[in-house]
Amino acid sequence: MDLRLAPMAGVTNAPFRLVCREAGAGLLTSEEIDARALVEGNARTQVIAHCLPEERPIAFQLLGGDPDVLAEAARRLAATGADGIDLNMGCPVSKIVAKGQGAALMRDPLRAAVIFRTLRKAVDVPFTIKIRSGWDERTVNAVEIARIAEGEGVDAITVHPRTRSQQYTGRAPWAIIREVVAAVSVPVVGNGDVRNHADASELVTATGCAAVMIGRGALGAPWIFAGEPVDRETRACIIHRHCALIEEHLPPRDALVQLKKHLAWYSTGLAGSARLRTALFQAETPAAVQEMFWGNW
Ligand SMILES: Cc1cc2nc3c(=O)[nH]c(=O)nc-3n(C[C@H](O)[C@H](O)[C@H](O)COP(=O)(O)O)c2cc1C
Repeated sequence: MDLRLAPMAGVTNAPFRLVCREAGAGLLTSEEIDARALVEGNARTQVIAHCLPEERPIAFQLLGGDPDVLAEAARRLAATGADGIDLNMGCPVSKIVAKGQGAALMRDPLRAAVIFRTLRKAVDVPFTIKIRSGWDERTVNAVEIARIAEGEGVDAITVHPRTRSQQYTGRAPWAIIREVVAAVSVPVVGNGDVRNHADASELVTATGCAAVMIGRGALGAPWIFAGEPVDRETRACIIHRHCALIEEHLPPRDALVQLKKHLAWYSTGLAGSARLRTALFQAETPAAVQEMFWGNW
C-alpha cells in the first residue's frame, strides 16, 4: 500500500520526514511554505524549504493566494530539487483564510482555476493539490474543484474530507473521497483519521483511492509506515535516530522544541506519560529532555 506522510506545519520537518521515509513512507511532502515569504527571502522560510538529499522524492507544499507569487515560489523550489509542488487548499487558520489562502481557495473556484493554470505553466515537475471537502456544510464542492483541477493539468489530488468549518473535529466523511475518485481520472490520495493499517486498508476499499496520507496517526508512531507491527527495540532505534537527526539538522532552539514535542508524542502509552510530558516541556536542554524520556521508557 502506498502510505504517505501528511504535511503538518511545525512537525513534518526534515528529521521527522526522514524517519518516516526510513520506516517505509512513500512520497514525502514538506510542511506548508508561505510562498511570499519564500520569494522575499525570509530566513526562517528558507530553513523550512530545505530538505536532505535522502528524503527525495519530496514535494514542497506552497501556501498562498497570488498566482504570480505562487508561480515564482514554485519555480525556485523546482530549481533547487523539488520533485513536486503541492498547493495548500486546506489550511483553516483564520488569519490565513482572511488573506484568501488555504481553505479560502475552496470557496473561490474561479481564482483557484487561475492559480492552477499559472502554477501548471510554471513548473514541469508534478503539480498536486490538497483540498478539503469544502468551505462549510452548505458548500461541499470537492468534486467541482477536483474537476477544475484535472482540467487545468493537476497531476494528483489529496482529499481531507472535512470542511473548513469542521477544522479537525468529528469523523472525516470518507464518502467524499469516493465521490472525487469517481469524478476524475487523476490519482486521488485519501486522508483523514487513519490510525493504523486496518484503517488504511479500509480507506482504500471504501473509496478506491490510489494512496493513503497519514497525519496525526504518525505522531509518535512513524513506524505506522512499516506495514507491520514493530517491536519495542525497533521503536527505540527509530526514536534514537530521530533525536540524532533533530540535533544534527536543526538550529539549537528549534531542536529543543522539536525534541520536546516528538518525545512527548513518543511517550503516549508509557506509564506516567502525563507527568512525563509536563516534565519534558519544562526541561531546558536537549540532553535533559532525552535523559528524562529514556529514564521513563
Ligand atoms: C499540527 C498539524 C499541522 C498541519 N499542517 C498542515 C499543513 O501545513 N498543510 C496541510 O495541507 N495540512 C496540514 N495539516 C492537515 C493534515 O495534513 C491532515 O490533512 C489532517 O491532519 C487530517 O489527517 P489525519 O487525520 O491523518 O491527521 C495539519 C494538521 C495538523 C494536525
